[in-house]
Amino acid sequence: MTQHQWSAVDAYICGMMIPPDTVLSAALASSAAAGLPPINVAPNQGKLLHLLALMHGSRNILEVGTLGGYSTIWLARALPAGGRLITLEADEKHALVARENIARAHLPVDVDVRVGLALDTLPRIEAEGLGPFDLIFIDADKPGNPDYFRWALKLSRRGSVIIVDNVVRNGTVLDASGNDANVHGVRQLNELIAAEPRVSATAIQTVGSKGYDGFAIALVILRSIAAQSFTRARVLRRRARRMSRPSAPERSSRPTHRKTCGRARSAATLRTAPRHSTGHRRERWYRGR
Ligand code: SAH
Ligand code: DHB
Ligand code: MG
Repeated sequence: MTQHQWSAVDAYICGMMIPPDTVLSAALASSAAAGLPPINVAPNQGKLLHLLALMHGSRNILEVGTLGGYSTIWLARALPAGGRLITLEADEKHALVARENIARAHLPVDVDVRVGLALDTLPRIEAEGLGPFDLIFIDADKPGNPDYFRWALKLSRRGSVIIVDNVVRNGTVLDASGNDANVHGVRQLNELIAAEPRVSATAIQTVGSKGYDGFAIALVILRSIAAQSFTRARVLRRRARRMSRPSAPERSSRPTHRKTCGRARSAATLRTAPRHSTGHRRERWYRGR
């Protein structure tokens, strides 16, 4: 398989499923004219981000790494009226181009392009109480990934989605011994995600017009370790109360397939997955909000 083939198939997919869009085309054209590097997500990837935000019902989004605002526009278009998107960009020129592109999109939502190193602007966002965000897209400098992921968690709630771009990097993600800072950033990010009990995550390899790369997607399933212990303690207390009740005849004769509803269902929203023998940590399956 070759890059030529991946690009041809991407052109076919985009031609079929992504209608011509003057706003997005103008965003790419003005970015190129201003000399920005063509490292925006591909159209079908932008639409994937858009669909994920829509499916999730995201109302406020945080993006780290704006460039010309191409992914920003895709994401912002998934927001309902009154929705909010904050995007962080280190380069003043990129931010300027992005603001023009975003203005041209006439979005009915509030899009805030903030200039500065993300590690400077993220603490301000927290201080301003702008979180938690429903969806966070991390796509800036790759050595910063571990820090951005930690910040994403800090600015999340249970049910938030964290998406990270470029986690495969043409397969170089396997080079554990090399000294490419980008690869290190991606590997450290993956290790953080793997060891993080507050998220359930996966990563997907992609090929297409942007080469061979991938996305990591993490769902925040627990707000904090403290919240996790609290929920577990509550479940145990409830179980203990149930066990200590004298067994009523109508209780024991109830059909076992009765519907879980009301309080019973709320206890079922956080289920402990069966322990498996592969050495992986136990996960909790997330259901509903
Ligand atoms: N999300 C964009 C592409 C972003 S490219 C899209 O798909 O359309 C990465 C961007 O991150 C670049 O514009 C770069 O200037 C910016 N960046 C790099 N280091 C950064 C930092 N420390 N803080 C914020 N932005 C940074
Ligand atoms: C680079 C950054 C990106 O966000 C991307 O999608 C592709 C490449 C880069 O810095 O090389
Ligand atoms: Mg990227």
